[in-house]
Amino acid sequence: MKITTLTHETVDQSLAHIDQFAIDVLTGLCSKPKNIPAKYFYDDIGSELFQKITQHTDYYPTRTEFEILDEIKNSLPEFIGESEIDIIELGAGDGHKTKLLIDGFLKNDYKVNFYPIDISEKAMLLLEKNIEPNSQLSVHGIVAEYFAGLRYARSQSKNRQLVLFLGSNIGNFNLAQNQGFLRRLWKALNSGDFTLIGFDLKKDVSKFLSAYNDSAGHTKEFNLNLLRRINNELGGQFDINKFQHFGTYNPKLGAMESYLLSNEDQEVYIKELQRSFHFQAYEPIHLEYSFKFLKTDVELLSKQAGFNVVNHFTDRNNYFVDSLWRVTKESGT
Ligand code: TRP
Repeated sequence: MKITTLTHETVDQSLAHIDQFAIDVLTGLCSKPKNIPAKYFYDDIGSELFQKITQHTDYYPTRTEFEILDEIKNSLPEFIGESEIDIIELGAGDGHKTKLLIDGFLKNDYKVNFYPIDISEKAMLLLEKNIEPNSQLSVHGIVAEYFAGLRYARSQSKNRQLVLFLGSNIGNFNLAQNQGFLRRLWKALNSGDFTLIGFDLKKDVSKFLSAYNDSAGHTKEFNLNLLRRINNELGGQFDINKFQHFGTYNPKLGAMESYLLSNEDQEVYIKELQRSFHFQAYEPIHLEYSFKFLKTDVELLSKQAGFNVVNHFTDRNNYFVDSLWRVTKESGT
């Protein structure tokens, strides 16, 4: 499989990446409340920990979505109605869910060109092991952020396109970011292209609490790993034992929120930033939202961005929905 890296191909870009990380950490730790952007979760260790989270029984979304995709893999090709397709996946991870869909298309005599996009090189190497190209399937991995990768993938091929955005990654955006993201996606695609997006649905809060506080402590390690990454890449002096993971549901927002809390009043020096940061006892660092949806929210988001809902695919418990949308554009645009 071919892999193209758009994030840091050159030494210059690698330095630019460290600079950007430093700027984002500085901005985040100077904000009130403090935060660290979630895209920095995924270094090599973070990607491995993330895989462990998704395989843990407490974390229902991955296996629920797997069940849905397994169920629809043979009918999805009929909804699309072509003989060749470009499948572009934003945040592909290890590709084990997507393999189901690809196999479904191949079985229905499609030729498939798969472009997995992921910010993590490690995830791309895991994916390479799961998905083998053959005469009917080309695989071209792109290590990049979402839209840079999408632009690149679209420059490579011009078939009918299906963009996958699975795993409720869309829930990690707030409403404004979500609307902006979907409109940008709509704009990037041609009329008649498709997107399949995974949304985690609102359900009993206890399900959320155990999924985001798994009993093996993988989520806790995943969150603390951000501090380790600052230590490794920016010369930070965080003592990991002086912070705790805290995941909670905010019913007003309809979102899980994850935080690190400082266990005590402390100063932490970060060499690359040439300064220390003060943490009060129990002061939070906000890391991530994971918004939960109603089906009516999904429909509204789709419509606002210019898509038409083709179908909602759900599991028997109605825990999760993979929603298939078609791009509609006035002719001539
Ligand atoms: N987007 C998924 C979710 O919100 C996966 C995910 C992202 C996640 N960050 C996470 C899962 C942190 C657990 C912990 O569920």
